[in-house]
Amino acid sequence: MTLRTERLRVGVLASGRGSNLQALLDASGRPEYPAEVVIVISDRERAAALDRARAAGVEALFVNPKDFADREAFDLALVAEFTARRVGLVCNAGFMRILSSAYTRAFSGRAMNIHPSLLPAFPGLHAQRQALDYGAKVAGATVHFVDEGPVDTGPIILQASVPVLPNDTEETLSARILVEEHRLYPQAVRLFAEGRLSVEGRRVTWQ
Ligand code: GAR
Repeated sequence: MTLRTERLRVGVLASGRGSNLQALLDASGRPEYPAEVVIVISDRERAAALDRARAAGVEALFVNPKDFADREAFDLALVAEFTARRVGLVCNAGFMRILSSAYTRAFSGRAMNIHPSLLPAFPGLHAQRQALDYGAKVAGATVHFVDEGPVDTGPIILQASVPVLPNDTEETLSARILVEEHRLYPQAVRLFAEGRLSVEGRRVTWQ
């Protein structure tokens, strides 16, 4: 008889296409992977991410920001949904809303985000366009913990770089970065699920 401890229960927040969610769902589908996505929540009813969740047999929930008086009330509803499903880690995967401290405090040390730049360069929207406009020669992707800072400020877990090529457009650069995103996110979740990450101040290390 083999005893199996429960895999880490992961909740995902996604607003759009959901290709990073797909990378996490694909990883979850492998029995040896130590985490599983148990719920996907979107602030957009028609987000392709919700279809991807349903196709993988994972609960997909639309939470309408318009149903709440303010940002904090919406965020607390997200906290309640994740808590009810005993989620141990929440992953933002292309979630395009700023989360209030009510949310970040509830999931302190248990919330990750993926961002298409080498943070702290180019936080916020259109990171790839920012890199091109700035004339950067190297771009990349970052997975970081979510903290109470304004946007994309938390301790960095993993990063990968890609070259910016002379003829790059926002689309070609984004596609090159996305390949790295899809590799990094499942890797960061695995490190967390295996209890191998340590955080001291801003520095994240792993064994
Ligand atoms: C990804 O490139 C992700 O890094 C980015 O949105 C895209 C979502 O794609 N997130 C941010 O810019 C957050 N600041 P996806 O829906 O296919 O995963």
